[in-house]
Amino acid sequence: MKLQSIELPLGKNQTLQKSPKIVLLVIFTLVFLTVVPYYPLLRRYPSNDSSETPSSSSYDHHHDSKDIGDDIVSTPSGDKYCDIFSGEWIPNPHAPYYKNTTCWAIHEHQNCMKYGRPDSDFMKWRWKPSDCDLPIFNPAIFLELVRGRSLAFVGDSVGRNQMQSLICLLSRVEYPIGVSHSPDERFIRWKYTSYNFTMAAFWTPHLVKSNEADNGVFNVYLDEFDEKWTTQIDEFDFLIISAGHWFFRPMVFYENGKIVGCHYCQKKNVVDLTMQYGYKKAFRTAFKAINGLENYKGITFLRTFSPSHFEGGLWNQGGNCVRTRPFRNNETRLEGQNLELYMAQVEEFKKAEKEGKKKGLRYRLLDTTQTMLLRPDGHPSRYGHWPHENVTLYNDCVHWCLPGPIDIWNDFLLEMFKREGVRSHEEKLQYLRDKKLQVR
Ligand SMILES: *[C@@H]1O[C@H](CO)[C@@H](O)[C@H](O)[C@H]1NC(C)=O
Ligand SMILES: *[C@@H]1O[C@H](CO)[C@@H](O)[C@H](O)[C@H]1NC(C)=O
Ligand SMILES: *[C@@H]1O[C@H](CO)[C@@H](O)[C@H](O)[C@H]1NC(C)=O
Ligand SMILES: *[C@@H]1O[C@H](CO)[C@@H](O)[C@H](O)[C@H]1NC(C)=O
Repeated sequence: MKLQSIELPLGKNQTLQKSPKIVLLVIFTLVFLTVVPYYPLLRRYPSNDSSETPSSSSYDHHHDSKDIGDDIVSTPSGDKYCDIFSGEWIPNPHAPYYKNTTCWAIHEHQNCMKYGRPDSDFMKWRWKPSDCDLPIFNPAIFLELVRGRSLAFVGDSVGRNQMQSLICLLSRVEYPIGVSHSPDERFIRWKYTSYNFTMAAFWTPHLVKSNEADNGVFNVYLDEFDEKWTTQIDEFDFLIISAGHWFFRPMVFYENGKIVGCHYCQKKNVVDLTMQYGYKKAFRTAFKAINGLENYKGITFLRTFSPSHFEGGLWNQGGNCVRTRPFRNNETRLEGQNLELYMAQVEEFKKAEKEGKKKGLRYRLLDTTQTMLLRPDGHPSRYGHWPHENVTLYNDCVHWCLPGPIDIWNDFLLEMFKREGVRSHEEKLQYLRDKKLQVR
């Protein structure tokens, strides 16, 4: 079994075709007409704190001496301390906000409607946090907040899935142009020229150095940086780091250059450590790399583990995901391997956050696990390819259809950006207070 085919990096023949210029022009015009009236939304929620009041000067984007977040406008919706990640899915007849015909960024294998998915209700839900509202994604606000900045997705194809969702959500305002440094689609870079906003993906399925042995087993070097991303990210303002599904595969773990054990490798004389063991160490090493960067001043988001929903068997043993409705909170819960992976990464995150604070680095939890656990209906299943096509992951219950529930991750991200101004301001005050106490 080939791993590439399960995680499906962009192939040669199925990719992101740019729309002809004329189409873009028409879209631009339409977008202008539709977006401009929303613009006052940018100023709709005045903050109590006068220093945070949105004003036109907040949109200046000098970057230099100020910390990121200082000039991010504070427009959190309602209670800025409400936990946006705890809630329920509720019907939303207005969704979706883009289609496969209006967005060229949808990956072939997540273009579920193209491959004949018969139901469409899975697109018509929104996330309702228990104690506040999560606004629907507003592309104009998002682009204003990230003006002059850069965002990198560090991880596997589920991370890319989120990036493509973001491109589609933003497409009502602008499409990016390709500015990749290499022809390798796994290290793609996009630029939103009117906003001077750069977005990039770094392919690192294990987060640490790894390579494939002949037999489909991966060698994973748990204490070695994957330099393909660790040497490239110090210029970025925001990182969204994530990992998961590759750790379900057979792996041999190395530490100090020596084999310390494996996961499911069935080798004689090699102790079978758990998948969690490798997962935890991989995050530890990835965060260590980030905290050790000299020039990095960005905000690191951990996008937590995204559960798959195979039922009736494993992914390669006839398992499938055929539900057409979300679960309610009381119908399922995080347990077993999902829970263990989630706990392992959050533990490492907390340690890294503490370590990072000493250097003024900020860590944020994009805590999507519970939200997505409730969406067994959001995967491509067998509608990620034509029925006769022989693909390894025939029933894909790992990735997410676009449009679909993964769009919510970007609603979360936008809300977190909005809150960042307030939060970083408060953290800075706390920092100064602590310092004063020390001086006294
Ligand atoms: C979009 O989806 C429709 C079905 O809703 C399908 O017929 C069409 O081929 C798809 N178009 C693209 C460009 O993917
Ligand atoms: C664009 O943003 C980058 C930082 O991401 C900055 O260095 C550069 O000066 C900006 N360019 C313009 C034209 O504002
Ligand atoms: C879950 O909660 C809903 C609404 O509160 C209720 O109608 C339903 O019966 C509950 N389901 C289970 C399995 O407890
Ligand atoms: C599908 O492809 C695999 C290897 O790529 C091959 O072993 C298998 O026989 C193929 N199955 C069919 C039905 O063509």
